[in-house]
Amino acid sequence: MEKFIINGGSKLKGAVNISGAKNAAVAIIPAAILADGPCVLENVPKINDVTVCLQILTEMGAKVRMRGKNTIQIDAKHIRDTVVPYEMARSIRASYYFMGALLTKFNHAKVSMPGGCALGDRPIDQHLKCFKALGANYSIEHGMVEITADKLIGTQIYFDKITVGATINAMLAAVKVDGLTILENAAKEPHIVDLANFLNSMGADIMGAGTDVIKIRGVKQLSGANYAIIPDQIEAGTYMVAAAATGGDVTIKNIIPKHLEPITSKLIKMGVVVEEYDDSMRVVGASEPYERMNNLKTMPHPGFPTDMQPQFAALLTLSSGTSIITESIYEDRFRYVDELRRMGADISVDGKVAVIEGVEKLTGAPVKAADLRAGAALIIAGLCAKGRTEIEDIYHIERGYEDMERKLRAIGADIVKRKYPDPDTIRNIG
Ligand code: EPZ
Repeated sequence: MEKFIINGGSKLKGAVNISGAKNAAVAIIPAAILADGPCVLENVPKINDVTVCLQILTEMGAKVRMRGKNTIQIDAKHIRDTVVPYEMARSIRASYYFMGALLTKFNHAKVSMPGGCALGDRPIDQHLKCFKALGANYSIEHGMVEITADKLIGTQIYFDKITVGATINAMLAAVKVDGLTILENAAKEPHIVDLANFLNSMGADIMGAGTDVIKIRGVKQLSGANYAIIPDQIEAGTYMVAAAATGGDVTIKNIIPKHLEPITSKLIKMGVVVEEYDDSMRVVGASEPYERMNNLKTMPHPGFPTDMQPQFAALLTLSSGTSIITESIYEDRFRYVDELRRMGADISVDGKVAVIEGVEKLTGAPVKAADLRAGAALIIAGLCAKGRTEIEDIYHIERGYEDMERKLRAIGADIVKRKYPDPDTIRNIG
């Protein structure tokens, strides 16, 4: 097991390069199996969720070749297996994208119910609704979802709720079906647009991605393509908040400012100075407390992203006055609150609402990362706390942040990664 050890108090200064977007990469990699020839993907983040997706492809018979740290060649011509290995599939959420991709390629898919961050109930009813609407049948047995179809036909699908995953799976399942498929009430996140652009570069005919109506005209064939994945707006936002929290001065490089608007606007409202350039953003923190946020509510894009909610909560623990955060996407995305309390934060949670009373300071403490963004929040808190913070279970964090220890050290953070014995192993020895 590994942990981060952080000695707080350093103001972050310098420049950090943002990696490719996790939530785009984990959709584009399964999509690559639809190509009749090899695809070369650039700006792929070197993170655990991507590693699992590539392991699944390899297990199924695809040829995966690293052509650089962040460049991968995928040739799925020889894939014959339509069953995704159970243990791998259940370790990440994005394994369910293989359902749509394999259904399109083989009219059959067998994938375990997905895993991913524990954020409350995360059903896949909208995904299954899409597959059924396109003419497929499905069954769920022994933790596996099996989807079969004689022939898929284009149709109109209205999502009962805005869902990134189901929007992506519907695009993957509809891209080669006969006729026109119209997705209504679709999600509009930047990675939805990135996937549509990738599929269109292979020869697909997808219009409207990034709006709430996406039209997909089925095509007969998709060819291999070279494609560079967009920068990760959540990774960028995390470093922006870290710079603000430490009162630092950091330039965030290799970003698309438009994708960060929902985050930048909130930071500016709190009193953080943000200078926007073509493909970078300079964040200058303040030494006095920031303004409180009296109703920070997470919404589907272009609203404030739920994946930035824990990081902003960490920042708001030191702001002036009372802040309110409403988590409207997930049932339970406040599992980091107990850990922040150990560091002196004053936060109370009632259902989907967290009330944060700004405090003078946080103090370092031993804490545990409950999930990916909860871990990011604890790092931010540790960077501005007095004293030493030890964060365990950092495998959650490394699912979605490339080289976080190196990137933070490069801008002045006092952070190291250390191994520690797995408590279960100790119990077994004992
Ligand atoms: C994706 O999850 C991201 N994960 C999440 O990022 C992100 O928080 C989420 O989109 C929202 O932006 C990946 O892309 C791998 P949803 P996903 O389907 O697709 C409910 C991170 O930190 N819902 O948009 O699972 C669902 O329970 C991770 O990077 C249904 O009810 O999110 C949730 O309440 C965490 N039925 C809401 O919709 C369904 O069939 C939004 O889920 C599907 C979803």
